[in-house]
Amino acid sequence: MSTPLPGRSAPVAARLRGVASSPVREILALTERSGVLSFAGGLPAPELFDREGLADAFAAALHDAHAGRSLQYSTTEGDPALRARVAERLTARGLPTGPEDLLITSGSQQALTLIAAVMLEPGDRVLVEDPSYLAALQAFQLAGAVPVPVPCDGEGLLPDEVERLVAEHRPKLLYTVPTFHNPTARTLGEERRRELAAVIERCDLWTIEDDPYGELRYKGEPSTPIAAIPGAAERTLALSTLSKVAAPGLRIGWVRTPADLRGPLTIAKQAADLHSSTIDQAATARWLAGVDLDAHLARLRHVYGERRDAMVAALPDVLPAGSRFNRPDGGMFVWVRLPDGLDATALLPRALEHEVAYVPGAPFYAATPDPRTLRLSFTTHAPAEIADGLGRLRAAFAGA
Ligand SMILES: Cc1ncc(COP(=O)(O)O)c(C=O)c1O
Repeated sequence: MSTPLPGRSAPVAARLRGVASSPVREILALTERSGVLSFAGGLPAPELFDREGLADAFAAALHDAHAGRSLQYSTTEGDPALRARVAERLTARGLPTGPEDLLITSGSQQALTLIAAVMLEPGDRVLVEDPSYLAALQAFQLAGAVPVPVPCDGEGLLPDEVERLVAEHRPKLLYTVPTFHNPTARTLGEERRRELAAVIERCDLWTIEDDPYGELRYKGEPSTPIAAIPGAAERTLALSTLSKVAAPGLRIGWVRTPADLRGPLTIAKQAADLHSSTIDQAATARWLAGVDLDAHLARLRHVYGERRDAMVAALPDVLPAGSRFNRPDGGMFVWVRLPDGLDATALLPRALEHEVAYVPGAPFYAATPDPRTLRLSFTTHAPAEIADGLGRLRAAFAGA
């Protein structure tokens, strides 16, 4: 291993100085100790991956007449067959999309980085939910931008507050996860979406609608994408991913973009990685062509819905008196607020002593954290394990 030369520090760019390593990733490392039953990660359940279907799809991509192409360099915008499949699915979900509207990215995380590179100057403001998805905050900060938290209620963004903060900060962008938000699982109702779309139009506010969880709905009707509402449509970049519905290891995401940003985003993607993995895209296109996606999603929804039910049914007996939590209609998380005076970060070591883990909410806040909050994920454990883990959490919180 090489040792740093005495007195020398490597030339790291100024824009990296304000960007801390994600505390959530550090907490996740702690929670991966064997014996710890973890509600901390935001992971899909591995037993629900369609391993056989994906194995067949990869074999086909490698063996058929196009194998040379699947292993070759390719176009930056992405595999045409994959873009066509994704466009069909988005159109069926109420967001009319052509393949040419899409740029395939290496996970939707890369779409965030590319948008930040294309649209943000150092010092620009970005409106974000309070709290917000941590890795989006990192992507904006890496571009030198400053996240400005928007006050939210149990549904999410308050449109009046968005409008007030636009007047105050003149932000370059609004970033929102309106459906089964990470970390809070909040979902904007239909009326609120229309109010928000009206603000976006009135303020001419460019918006990123990030939707990794919308297909994981266990109750109620699908939400209208903000990108489909006239007025907001022309100013909204819609992001999504196969990470939560197929497998995150594929690293297949996309951005659906208004025409004027297509060229700049493609240039940024060329500079980042030329294109996403050709074989992964080819196999994913084949998987989407062969799988009964509705049946696959119905299975995910059934299993995750049972897990969510098990968690929300048990929580009243687990949390200290005066705690509050939501009962989300989808997604992967339950958001908890402990009573005044309790600090979820300070209580985590006690939980780990009882071999159970969660993620404190504090790191997800762009400005002032609420120390009482924490996020629990219900997706990776069967109901009996959830009961076991929540029993440990009750013991950890007892007397807190
Ligand atoms: C809100 C949100 N956006 C984006 C991502 C990134 O997902 P991926 O890069 O796997 O598509 C996640 C992952 O958890 C997320 O929760």
